[in-house]
Amino acid sequence: MNYHVPVLLNESISGLSIKPTGTYIDLTFGGGGHTKNILKLLEKKGKLFSFDTDTDSFKINSINGNNNFEFINSNFKYFDLHLKQRGIKKVDGIFADLGVSSHQIDVLSRGFSYKGKAELDMRMNSNNKKNAQTILNDYDESDLDKIFFNYGDFKNSRLIAKNIVEYRKKKKIKYNSDLIEILNNLFDKNVNFKFLSRLFQSIRIEVNDEINALKEMLLKSKDFLKIKGRLVIISYHSIEDRIVKNFINKSNFDSTFKTDFYGNKQIFFKSINKKPLVPSEEEIKINPRSRSAKLRIGELI
Ligand SMILES: C[S@@+](CC[C@H](N)C(=O)[O-])C[C@H]1O[C@@H](n2cnc3c(N)ncnc32)[C@H](O)[C@@H]1O
Repeated sequence: MNYHVPVLLNESISGLSIKPTGTYIDLTFGGGGHTKNILKLLEKKGKLFSFDTDTDSFKINSINGNNNFEFINSNFKYFDLHLKQRGIKKVDGIFADLGVSSHQIDVLSRGFSYKGKAELDMRMNSNNKKNAQTILNDYDESDLDKIFFNYGDFKNSRLIAKNIVEYRKKKKIKYNSDLIEILNNLFDKNVNFKFLSRLFQSIRIEVNDEINALKEMLLKSKDFLKIKGRLVIISYHSIEDRIVKNFINKSNFDSTFKTDFYGNKQIFFKSINKKPLVPSEEEIKINPRSRSAKLRIGELI
């Protein structure tokens, strides 16, 4: 089985506008698809640091004998600390391909998928304490409601939370099939694949604290990019895309500009593509998992 098929590969690499002697970061190594293509364009003096919080990613897809490459097994929200430790103050480009790899979804024991029977888990970093079972069994009803409302866009988030809490009074929620059973009773005919993928995605976002990690990383990115350095981000759902869009276009996480003491707009980036780049029909046909991808490119000004 393929570890991961890289999405919007050519568009991402050309978005980085790679200088052969530049320094780059790939914050989401995964199967190494984007990393390998960045490395192809670097000369001896060029440098690439790739991050992933999941130990499987580099263990399975290791790259050896390349002096201008280093893999760093860490959450990308700490990328600044790792670069500082290595004496790197500024880079020419930062790339992130957010979310999960196909490997994480396809390996049943990782507990990300609603297909097949598996224990719920969903941790990208298997050393973290909190997993999907912790959330479903220990969070109180109002916190569960917030997760389904904010990360899953469910109008009936309260009802979902209530049913989970009722179920777990009788039996611990352990398997993906337990969760499907709870919601089957609730929604009958409406439990479909789209619904389930949204539901599982919302729990995954909470397990991995994905929104906070993304925001922390974006805020740090502007301090680590050289002028004209590129920020290239692929997102897979509207919550992430809104954050990336506002950050590149408005330099904060709201849809309006902030002003400084003198009333001047704070603008950090020039947006390279007015509209996000999306996969072609051909790419979606070959790799259906690419269908929701949106690529945004900012250039530090
Ligand atoms: C969509 S995959 C990347 C695929 C990669 N571009 C490729 O072509 O093979 C996302 C990867 O990012 C990692 N990841 C997600 N959030 C992360 C974070 N906050 N810090 C570090 N790695 C993260 C996941 O573990 C996963 O391996």
